[in-house]
Amino acid sequence: MSNQTTLAQSNIYREIHEQPAALRRLLENSRGAAAELAQAIHTRAVTHVVIAARGTSDNAGRYAQYVLGAHNQLIVSLATPSLFTIYAQPPQFHNALVLGISQSGKSPDIVAVMDEAQRQGALTAVMTNAPDSPLAEQADHVIDIAAGPELAVAATKSYTNEVAAIALLSALLSEDEKRLEELDTMPQAVARTLAASEPIGQAAQRYCYMNRSVIIGRGFNYATAFELALKMKELTYTLVEPYSSADFLHGPVAMVEAGFPVITVAPSGVMQEKMQEFVAAAARRNAEILVISDDDALLSQARTPLPIAPGVAEWLSPITAIVPGQLFAMHLAHARGYNVDAPRGLRKVTETR
Ligand code: F6R
Repeated sequence: MSNQTTLAQSNIYREIHEQPAALRRLLENSRGAAAELAQAIHTRAVTHVVIAARGTSDNAGRYAQYVLGAHNQLIVSLATPSLFTIYAQPPQFHNALVLGISQSGKSPDIVAVMDEAQRQGALTAVMTNAPDSPLAEQADHVIDIAAGPELAVAATKSYTNEVAAIALLSALLSEDEKRLEELDTMPQAVARTLAASEPIGQAAQRYCYMNRSVIIGRGFNYATAFELALKMKELTYTLVEPYSSADFLHGPVAMVEAGFPVITVAPSGVMQEKMQEFVAAAARRNAEILVISDDDALLSQARTPLPIAPGVAEWLSPITAIVPGQLFAMHLAHARGYNVDAPRGLRKVTETR
């Protein structure tokens, strides 16, 4: 059996490739529950959202900060679970929606935030792949992300379904039919991105000895930078830090010397011009440039282009932009001889308190 055959039989390979089907399932099954939550947000005159989540699910929460901010004028903050579990001094939620996001619904600190939100009488909701989990039990509204069983330790399809569930809630909140139609095209867009990603296995070989990198994204794709950095650390054991291009220029850019690997997330949209400027600045420092984009001109400036399907609205581009990143991290881990389904010392469910 060849090495590539072994990889194709891994859980993570299968789960990455299941993403179009998983997205379709979410969009077909969970619209009703998301619409009920949207209604409750209006009825309760919610002014802000507090998101409780860890790891990959927290990165989906970062996407919510941008999409619910840009399209629904909501301030979204990420919760501080230790205030609930360690300091035992929880903040007042007032008229917030407290939203738990979790694949497993099991981490005790996230459950503790929801518990306190219930006690204070805040509106509570959970987006989870485990609608019968302890977290879901604590919530007024449960949105099943319907990703199907996720067996690989590194989350992939649960992330894209969490992001899509947030996008669905946002579009329903503003009753925006055009955006709902755009969202319906995403299973196909992810399928097209997967089809274009065949060369990534070969391209990843070049980075076998890479020991550090940064990932730059901004706006809607700030979340993508965080999520890809997490996948790279978890699967390939490489020190990879995420930054907004703006923050990066405030100091960390000094690290960049000839050959320093810089991955830029740069899909079409209003942020693209900023990303173009950033890639040009990295090129002046002779960085090793990798670009995730649907724009041929930007891709042509990269030593390693990581193409995504064109024609996706910027607000939804995080759903396609993470896909070549997931594949890159998986192939690099495999090329290094690491177990792609079970990174060292990790379990599928991490319980923090
Ligand atoms: C990363 C990963 C973890 C989980 C985190 C939260 O690939 O899988 O970071 O995202 O442990 O898990 P859930 O979403 O089950 O609460």
